Amino acid sequence: MFSRLFGSKKKEKIEVAYNGQPLVNDLSFLGADMHSHFLPGIDDGAQTMEDSIELISQMKQLGYKRIVTTPHIKVDNYPNTPNIILSQLAEVKAALAERGIDIPVHAAAEYYIDDYFLQLLDTEPLLTVWKNEVLVEISFMFEPIQLGEIIFRLTSRGYQPIMAHPERYMYYHHDFDKYEELKNRGCYLQMNINSLMGYYGKPVKQVAEKLFSMGMYDYVGTDMHNLKHTEVVQHISRNEDLMALLQSKPLRNPLIQF
Ligand SMILES: [Fe+2]
Repeated sequence: MFSRLFGSKKKEKIEVAYNGQPLVNDLSFLGADMHSHFLPGIDDGAQTMEDSIELISQMKQLGYKRIVTTPHIKVDNYPNTPNIILSQLAEVKAALAERGIDIPVHAAAEYYIDDYFLQLLDTEPLLTVWKNEVLVEISFMFEPIQLGEIIFRLTSRGYQPIMAHPERYMYYHHDFDKYEELKNRGCYLQMNINSLMGYYGKPVKQVAEKLFSMGMYDYVGTDMHNLKHTEVVQHISRNEDLMALLQSKPLRNPLIQF
């Protein structure tokens, strides 16, 4: 079904989507997206400048007004630095301007919490989503040892951690107190919007719905890497129940300015 959206006439894909029904482009209520992988060739997101331009254009069509893109910083796989990230950002902004695509784009990072991250924390300023807010992720396999202590070190240095996609950490699924604990330690929580579509599986969807209904999330992000993710977000924007759910709780996305 998704493949119907991406025929050879790329420019028409939004207009002709979903069995001829017009696409409801009302994700604009979120204002900003704050988790994505749009800088070309430096992580597992966009690989070329054309990928970047296409993905960012799609975000604009979905209604987003501002984008904070967040390449991975994970030393073993994606040893990105602020210099690499900011120079790629400048290239992407120039390419957008050249093509007349008008949407503000800012870059931060999605920091993987490990010993290397702790070294960075001690030696250089971290890239922030906005203000003092830093997007972090943890292992999908196990909770890092002394996560509480690491969060304390971050907040002690004046940073506000945002935990990326906590619904995807399966080891928390049967212990909801862990989510409360993260919040109590001062973490904001960010849901991946595609979790609501079951993109990461049913258990992740169920946990995301529950956490969202409980008002536990501070942000929603696309975590967009590629056009497959774009298609899923398009389906969410067409789903009245999910759109109603997304609009039922206050989120910090519209506050983001840069
Ligand atoms: Fe991500």
